[in-house]
Amino acid sequence: MTALIEASSPHVMNTYGRLPIAMSHGQGAWVWDVNGRKYLDGLGGIAVNTLGHNHPKLVPALQDQIAKLIHCCNYYHVPGQEALAKKLVEFSGMSNVFFCSTGLEANEAALKLARKFGHDKGIERPEIVVYEKAFHGRSIATLSATGNEKIQKGFGPLVEGFIRVPVNNIDALKKATEGNPNVVAVFFETIQGEGGINAMHLDYLRQVRALCDERDWLMMIDEVQCGMGRTGKWFAHQWAGIVPDVMPLAKGLGSGVPIGAVVAGPKAAAIFQPGNHGTTFGGNPLAMRAGVETIRIMEEDGLLANAAQVGEHLRAALQRELGGLPGVKEIRGQGLMLGIDLDRPCGALTQRAADAGLLLSVTADSVIRLVPPLILTADEADQIVAILAPLVKAFLSESTQ
Ligand SMILES: Cc1ncc(COP(=O)(O)O)c(C=O)c1O
Repeated sequence: MTALIEASSPHVMNTYGRLPIAMSHGQGAWVWDVNGRKYLDGLGGIAVNTLGHNHPKLVPALQDQIAKLIHCCNYYHVPGQEALAKKLVEFSGMSNVFFCSTGLEANEAALKLARKFGHDKGIERPEIVVYEKAFHGRSIATLSATGNEKIQKGFGPLVEGFIRVPVNNIDALKKATEGNPNVVAVFFETIQGEGGINAMHLDYLRQVRALCDERDWLMMIDEVQCGMGRTGKWFAHQWAGIVPDVMPLAKGLGSGVPIGAVVAGPKAAAIFQPGNHGTTFGGNPLAMRAGVETIRIMEEDGLLANAAQVGEHLRAALQRELGGLPGVKEIRGQGLMLGIDLDRPCGALTQRAADAGLLLSVTADSVIRLVPPLILTADEADQIVAILAPLVKAFLSESTQ
């Protein structure tokens, strides 16, 4: 018998509660650990691996790019930036893009845009509306915008200038901003990911759009997790038929190569001028090639439609197996961004699912989250349900609320 390789990282800073598993390689929607165990990837590196693993079209393209040029810097034009920006502009109906490398960086840029938007109008202390249960990242500014005290604890003083409101309540938004001339923007996720797969209602999105127009605020939509085709449209807010003024992206945009982007519409596209913002890695040739190829493959292989269809298949199957069971509050989400909301904390299910050969996460303590690669097949969706449903049933019958 071959000895098992222990999964441990004593010299890595202890910032994650990791499972005792170390991954080795992947293929499609499957990954293998260093001991040869196979897992169905229901997590996609937290909504990152759009094309799954070892995609036959992406890998050669990245190899080609690595051999040509990995990085230069933004002192020069990077043709890939224009190619990717053109696509994002086309899909979003917006006008210009700033590139960076992560979600929090994209959100930092959005927050800076909002503040400068205000300063340019003579507002010296701009304020930005943010939401309960929101997650925008772990930098000091983005964790201040995040609506989760656990994430903020120990990092005060937080950045000021945020007004927090509940989701899907237009009256609360109006009341919280009433008579306040310093408000410059409303900032939210179309579907909150870390907060527990909580969607903004389409009507609410339209009402916020109208309010932003009426009051000359920027509508800033964090599509870092729910964007890039995951819900079956390029961007989740498009289900409401609206166009934001600022849209941070990251995660799935590069299929695993670090990348972030802020897409801006006409109201925000010219706010930054040379010297206002920048980043060394942002927009480098490798990341841009990853973005361009991800989009090309998504278009060629019809992955928006796949996300919508397989997502609905998965949701319906989960609903059939688990919907209505005592302890299952709701099965929700859209496309391949789904949550099973239980009435009790269920973090233990991540290890149990991995033991049974399925990767997933639990977010907001009690919501089982599935954000698999967009190449997932209906058969693989059935396999997810076949593994997960008995685990959830056993968990609910043995644990008390
Ligand atoms: C909606 C949203 N915004 C921002 C972030 C932060 O992205 P990153 O971890 O790349 O900084 C995340 C990460 O989970 C996210 O889900």
